[in-house]
Amino acid sequence: MATKETLQQTVRELLGDRLLVVVSNREPYIHTFSGDTIECQVPPSGLTTALDPVLRACGGTWIAHGSGDADRQTVDGQDRVAVPPDQPRYSLRRVWLSKEQEEGYYYGFANQALWPLCHISYVRPVFEERHWETYRAVNEIFADALAAEIGDQKAFAFIQDYHLALLPQLVKQRLPNVVTAQFWHIPWPNPEVFRICPWKEDILDGLLGNDLLGFHVRYHCNNFLETVNTIEAKVDYDRYEVTRRGRKSAVRPFPISVDYDEIDATARSQDVKTEMERLRHELGLDDEIVGLGLDRLDYTKGIPERLLAFGRFLNQNPKYRGKVVFIQAGVPSRTHIGEYKRLNDQIDDLVEELNWRYGSGRWKPVIYLRQHLSPTTLMALRRLARFAAVSSLHDGMNLVAKEFVASRFDEDGVLLLSPFTGAARELTDALLVNPYATDHFAQAIRFAIEMPRAERRRRMGRMRRVVQENSIYKWAADIITFLARLSPWE
Ligand code: F6P
Repeated sequence: MATKETLQQTVRELLGDRLLVVVSNREPYIHTFSGDTIECQVPPSGLTTALDPVLRACGGTWIAHGSGDADRQTVDGQDRVAVPPDQPRYSLRRVWLSKEQEEGYYYGFANQALWPLCHISYVRPVFEERHWETYRAVNEIFADALAAEIGDQKAFAFIQDYHLALLPQLVKQRLPNVVTAQFWHIPWPNPEVFRICPWKEDILDGLLGNDLLGFHVRYHCNNFLETVNTIEAKVDYDRYEVTRRGRKSAVRPFPISVDYDEIDATARSQDVKTEMERLRHELGLDDEIVGLGLDRLDYTKGIPERLLAFGRFLNQNPKYRGKVVFIQAGVPSRTHIGEYKRLNDQIDDLVEELNWRYGSGRWKPVIYLRQHLSPTTLMALRRLARFAAVSSLHDGMNLVAKEFVASRFDEDGVLLLSPFTGAARELTDALLVNPYATDHFAQAIRFAIEMPRAERRRRMGRMRRVVQENSIYKWAADIITFLARLSPWE
């Protein structure tokens, strides 16, 4: 089984003196002002949740956009800060962007064009020339930062996600010998969908600068190969390889995961136990059965669908009124974009409606915590829950589901999981719920609540073994091992 220690060994053996540089848009630690003091926050991001333990184990440098309002106050002369702040293990190098750049690149092309294009959630992508131009310019900024970081050293650049689709090609133009891999953390659509993007060929060219391109599941690799097949390129379906203009890129699935051991250990801590008590008191919980939703507030996560299903459940099962509460916790995200503002309003309206319709006396069916919560509080919430609902309309993987499983060392708790997540392919003991099918979802909630303890233990035990076996260390070791085989470091 891959562990932190075996990953360290793999990295030592295979990377040798080669520098490991991770590049992403989102940074793993964000410094913000809280009055006169500076706080350090961990963002609600699957990507950073997954990669921070890897960098902690292996060291190296992580280049990312410095998005916190106190980020500039905490870096040195080279824009670096050692992280994690309490026990530094690697270096975070921040890239600065103007408001205009952030608007066009992050809020514009990345999150109004590529995000809805890659997720089937029926939100129409917006393709604006000015967004695209800024996206290109910002990818150049990241390429310059990466080139400056690497200089003439031997390096392995590990690029993350859809914000940086052009970066691999730009890096190869600057430093042809750098080995590059990229992991695409979201789904890849079929060619029929992708072809509406006016800059589809530029994006494919950017990505084909990679020596290795990874997706969560084979289905997304297949979609990618099919998409590449629509341009002038040689696609080898047997070897999962693409050759374009004489360059070869391998395409493979690597299902991402979490640090199982760390989550399991934290979940057992006294701090979490104390926090569970504090939460029970603060939220006015007696012995109600707790359902839980934990998400970044995004329209792909199926939050309104989940609340509607919980309402339907209360409507059809009056005997559970007063006996079950659903805690929906989440941090607002990308609120600068209209679609996200509308989502926030929709959730507010639904919570108000459910609490008005079904609440009585002190009991309210939904507790909505729209705020940033500490890792200890999040862990305590997972442990309080009888069931957790992950109801994404579409999701590359979804690490909330795996975090829930890893935190339930008591082998209790039921996971309701959308079949439209990558996680559903591995967590086959979850109760599958189609977020679009409200009645079926409502029945699944009842089924979860009434599931006998022995059955909960059996299912959770099996899911825990899956997550333990396929932890984030296996994911990272598999990618590094694959790359080393592909391009033996001289
Ligand atoms: O996992 C997909 C992803 O978009 C990551 O790239 C990102 O860090 C995370 O979701 C959260 O989104 P954002 O960085 O836009 O807050």
